[in-house]
Amino acid sequence: MLHVRGGTIVTAERMFRADILCGDDGRIAAIAPEIDTPSGCEVVEADGLLVMPGGIDPHTHMEMPFMGTVASDDFHTGTAAGLAGGTTCIIDFVIPEAGGSLLEAWKAWRLKAEKAAADYSFHVAVTHWDDQVHRDMATLVNECGVNSFKHFMAYKNALMVDDDVLLHSIRRAGELGALCTVHAENGDAVAYMQAKLLAEGRTGPDAHPLSRPPMVEGEAAQRVIALAGLLDAPIYIVHVSTAEATRAIADARMRGQRVYGEVLPQHLVLDDSVYSSPDWLTAARHVMSPPFRPRHHQHALWAGLTSGQLQTTATDHCCFCAGQKENGRTNFTHIPNGTPGIEDRMSILWHHGVTTGRLSPQEFVAITSTNTARIFNMLPRKGCIAVGADADLVLWDGQGTRTISARTHHQNVDYNIYEGMTVTGVARRTISAGRVVWDDGDLRAIRGAGRYIERPALPRR
Ligand code: URP
Ligand code: ZN
Ligand code: ZN
Ligand code: ZN
Repeated sequence: MLHVRGGTIVTAERMFRADILCGDDGRIAAIAPEIDTPSGCEVVEADGLLVMPGGIDPHTHMEMPFMGTVASDDFHTGTAAGLAGGTTCIIDFVIPEAGGSLLEAWKAWRLKAEKAAADYSFHVAVTHWDDQVHRDMATLVNECGVNSFKHFMAYKNALMVDDDVLLHSIRRAGELGALCTVHAENGDAVAYMQAKLLAEGRTGPDAHPLSRPPMVEGEAAQRVIALAGLLDAPIYIVHVSTAEATRAIADARMRGQRVYGEVLPQHLVLDDSVYSSPDWLTAARHVMSPPFRPRHHQHALWAGLTSGQLQTTATDHCCFCAGQKENGRTNFTHIPNGTPGIEDRMSILWHHGVTTGRLSPQEFVAITSTNTARIFNMLPRKGCIAVGADADLVLWDGQGTRTISARTHHQNVDYNIYEGMTVTGVARRTISAGRVVWDDGDLRAIRGAGRYIERPALPRR
């Protein structure tokens, strides 16, 4: 048992002073203004700290095979780094081989994830369409605890799907009570622009943002929203990075469509100047898709989060070390796409969101945890502080500061995109399933302690 004593609880709804008792079953056993410590119970002092639901990151790629290599953070190192930053649960992506079985891929990912130090769940990517996919989707929803599928509108000749696949999958997911998630970029336009830029001799990472300008994302977001509207199905757009896509989502919601949007902290605080670095590796390390944008897009993303038109934050944590980024030294289209960030999401959002007054602490909890739990049907187990919920908590120091650096981070990657930034808002302790796994610098993550979280189908409309 664990007694969290003297903290201020923050949920998506309210803030109040209370103690929490975590049971040996890893769940919250009691919440009350003052609890007498049961004999033999470990006490964690939370005086002066905020006690919030552990972060949920709905978009990570641990040990993902991608662009000829494999992401360097695996399920153990990546989830452990998350714990150090206050994130206690991830939803990662199962990526089937080209033409391969979704179910077999899900089984393979289950095995890979057994080493995870924190709880995890899976979206499963649909990368082609046939009768087997149609059947596998039902098995995954009805028997495997999967209630969301992923679609890449980009990465032509690799993961990309066309509108026909999207329509079939959105319809099938709707029948099953599952939610379709989408990487919205027009992959044909990207491939066309990449070829054009290479033909012009533009081989460096500074060509990356030129190959996928904002309208490439705006068009795809509009299109998939239209397709989902046609089928009267909900849709969730991952890593929204532009004013165009934000507006498409807001407009659809105002028309009564159920559309959700996710934002990455890196898109909120970094801009496209990163690609003008004279150092090739520095620029290459920022190659991810969608790319970093001109600064005015950040205002739209913040406005989307503040207004509630965009609901969740994720990291798209996808790590590649210098040697892997080198694969694209002579051709930017071969630089593995992805940036790290699971360890720093909560701090970056607190620093730039709460201390600036853009977000209240309750809104911070909503966008880092509760909204994700609600949209992906993990409530009341995750995303809230309630009796019976998993005892996944972060003891947050809203005034504490730390300086982010690859020298001190726990992510298994040789750089940090927030290098040198001093942020206010620090995870002092992280509790996962009732155990202290991060104690102010002491990471006590246990390989294999993470559990697979089944997510039941959402109510059908
Ligand atoms: O560049 C990125 N985002 N890499 C990971 C795959 C994806 O598109 O999410
Ligand atoms: Zn068809
Ligand atoms: Zn993506
Ligand atoms: Zn991703």
